[in-house]
Amino acid sequence: MRATEFKRRRQQLMQQIGSGNLGLIASASDRTRNRDVDYPFRQDSDFYYLTGFNESGAFAVFIPEREQGEYILFCREFDPKKALWEGAHAGLEGAIQHYAADDAFPIEDLADILPGLLENKAKVFYPMGRDSELDQQLSKWIYYLRQHSRDGSQAPTDLIALDSILNEMRLFKSAAEIKLLRQAAKISAQAHIRAMRNCQAGMYEYQIEAEIVHALSYAGLRSVAYPSIVAGGKNACVLHYVENKSKLRQKDLLLIDAGGECEHYAADITRTFPVSGKFTRVQKQLYQLVLDAQLAAIAVIKPGVPWNLSHDISVQILTHGLVALGLLTGKVETLIETEAYKVFYMHRIGHWLGMDVHDVGAYKIDDKWRHLEAGMVLTIEPGLYIQADCESVAPKWRGIGIRIEDDILVTVDGHEVLTADAPKTIAEIEALMQVKP
Ligand code: GLY
Ligand code: MN
Ligand code: MN
Repeated sequence: MRATEFKRRRQQLMQQIGSGNLGLIASASDRTRNRDVDYPFRQDSDFYYLTGFNESGAFAVFIPEREQGEYILFCREFDPKKALWEGAHAGLEGAIQHYAADDAFPIEDLADILPGLLENKAKVFYPMGRDSELDQQLSKWIYYLRQHSRDGSQAPTDLIALDSILNEMRLFKSAAEIKLLRQAAKISAQAHIRAMRNCQAGMYEYQIEAEIVHALSYAGLRSVAYPSIVAGGKNACVLHYVENKSKLRQKDLLLIDAGGECEHYAADITRTFPVSGKFTRVQKQLYQLVLDAQLAAIAVIKPGVPWNLSHDISVQILTHGLVALGLLTGKVETLIETEAYKVFYMHRIGHWLGMDVHDVGAYKIDDKWRHLEAGMVLTIEPGLYIQADCESVAPKWRGIGIRIEDDILVTVDGHEVLTADAPKTIAEIEALMQVKP
């Protein structure tokens, strides 16, 4: 992503912070996995969104209309020894030259410099309540300024969650962001295709996970956006199943919920298909019902439509179908009113998607479901989960879990399914799985 994109975001942020106020945010930290081994570093999404700076040990300050420059970046100084052992890092010069900081200081000097920057600022926008160390540090700096108020300086009076500005900015995706989301979606769809092609009874779930990871990494997406769910048979009824270690059985369905991350932007796809490559009659009936619900929920997506419409449609169709198939008995309206369908469909239709798989952004405004607008990206992922010990239904339905999930961009006149390359009709899946690699 180009430096101008980050600059545009900072300018938008500065405008909302307003003159006389200040914004600040810390980078993510390195985290120990065990002894002297760290987890792979993943930058904080908000920090990256505003800076494009992909190092730990950094801190950004935004001061609208500051004469010496509005954007200050604290980071690690360039260290040739570190460069030799660990590779490139920007240093102070790089922060200015490549990341367009107006001023750069060593991160070690943060505590000395920041009180001076906070002086006489009224409001401080920061990621409130997310990092207790930062919360405490900020209180200390403000305390220090209050102690020195006799010198004529003023301490800030208002602490405001930076999210209140950033979440709304991040909810609307720019052309550059859509490009990355599209790429994440395309590559992840190919990963699902690879998994379908390679699936055979007798394999283990982790072997199918390896096919997904292979396809993602090979195409340059070295990180999944969230732990992959590869769930054969009744494991699919555990919504966040990530053990991925059971053996796949010929007669079972396999549910895969997996997506890669492309330059910090996530894909989130679920496909469910028969291990054998052919749906049984019972599997077909339930699968087609979920697919009908998903297609109908997607079909209504366009600007001006309330967020919950897709969910309500999915509940209508699924409940109706469950009654038709004999899994629920009673009147559809009553079953919806009493939420009886929740035994089989216990989650909502989807969520915002972006840098975080469950991305930021309010779903309600003034307690009312918000309306969709162009540039929003969301998932549509209805499912049905019939627990193996569900005695209220005929044995043939038990232990089946199905979810179908796509990533949808709201466009000016409708929507675009970013993940359309991953097959999902019964005919498409069966045709694909006939061709073995
Ligand atoms: N993969 C997480 C979700 O579908 O929400
Ligand atoms: Mn999802
Ligand atoms: Mn998912």
